[in-house]
Amino acid sequence: MASEQQWKIPPIVQELAAGVQTPPSQYVVGEQDRPDLVAAVMPEPIPLVDLSRLSAASDDPYPDEVAKLRSALQSWGLFLAVGHGMESSFLAETMKVTKGFFKLPMEEKQKYSNRVNGREFKLEGYGNDIVVSENQTLDWCDRFYIIVEPESRTIHSLWPTQPPTFSDTLREFTARCREVVTLILANMAKLVGLHERYFVDMLDKDGVTYARLNYYPHCPEPDRVFGMKAHSDASVITVVLVDDTVSGLQVQGGDGVWYDVPIVPNALLVNVGDVIEIMSNGLLKSPVHRVVTNLERERLSVVMFYSMEPEKEIEPAPELVDEERPRRYRKTNTKDYIADLFETLARGTRAIDRVKI
Ligand code: OGA
Ligand code: NI
Repeated sequence: MASEQQWKIPPIVQELAAGVQTPPSQYVVGEQDRPDLVAAVMPEPIPLVDLSRLSAASDDPYPDEVAKLRSALQSWGLFLAVGHGMESSFLAETMKVTKGFFKLPMEEKQKYSNRVNGREFKLEGYGNDIVVSENQTLDWCDRFYIIVEPESRTIHSLWPTQPPTFSDTLREFTARCREVVTLILANMAKLVGLHERYFVDMLDKDGVTYARLNYYPHCPEPDRVFGMKAHSDASVITVVLVDDTVSGLQVQGGDGVWYDVPIVPNALLVNVGDVIEIMSNGLLKSPVHRVVTNLERERLSVVMFYSMEPEKEIEPAPELVDEERPRRYRKTNTKDYIADLFETLARGTRAIDRVKI
């Protein structure tokens, strides 16, 4: 075994957190990039949207709610969705099985490892993100990544059998999130002047949904280590069930300032992904966000990334390109874009900057 490649396989952070008083140097960020543990408070009104007041039809029964959605997306690129129809007990159950998974004995979790024979990285499974360079700053986070839709792309053996209700709960959460996303995408398309099915049809039956379950252990030095470095999502759109007991998610405002995303119990966080930023020719922005760690407490999240079929092209909608608003992004395709994402995430840059004109 080539031991010089050892940096490619970092430890499980949960195990590190249980043992070390000082985070290893690979996790420590440079002086100029240190986290602001106390970030700015989002100004009122915080971007909160009641989905039960949105409609997919072209006539909006509650224009005020549509105005809130517009304002949230224009200011932040994200919003907190309430009125999504998921009961609080169901959301609590989803969190509970997620936590239950990370609390399983290591041998049990390793059955779903994202390392082939303990070495080669693959996207799906339990473990760390890919490490592409020895100088990469690592995130204080373990994750379980799995394709949840379409059925034809799911790998049965990767669905955990423990906790016993884990897989059924994740399947149910997937189905419920799909309804939410369909409604939101219809409204986003209308907001930028596209046909209401424009974004929904991009996903259609071949779109791939990735679930990423994140576990951020408590961290002995939260002022020098990130749970997840600043990034934007390469998805079409992302839905997140965030921990409602420990905050940590921060979003960068248009002014460059970092703001704490507030905890709103039973709300789902929804953010625009890079694909919609490109397709809308920059009218909607994919927000840059990051996660800070906590000295005493662990934090969990369940993230659903909606993505197009791998061969599909990504480029600005022709309807949104004209002389006044020239094309701002080059054409790419989903497969290449996602490959770029992992590469850029690891290097701390953004995939979208590679296609900006
Ligand atoms: C992500 C992400 C936020 C969170 O997984 O891309 O931004 O709160 N997660 O864990
Ligand atoms: Ni993200």
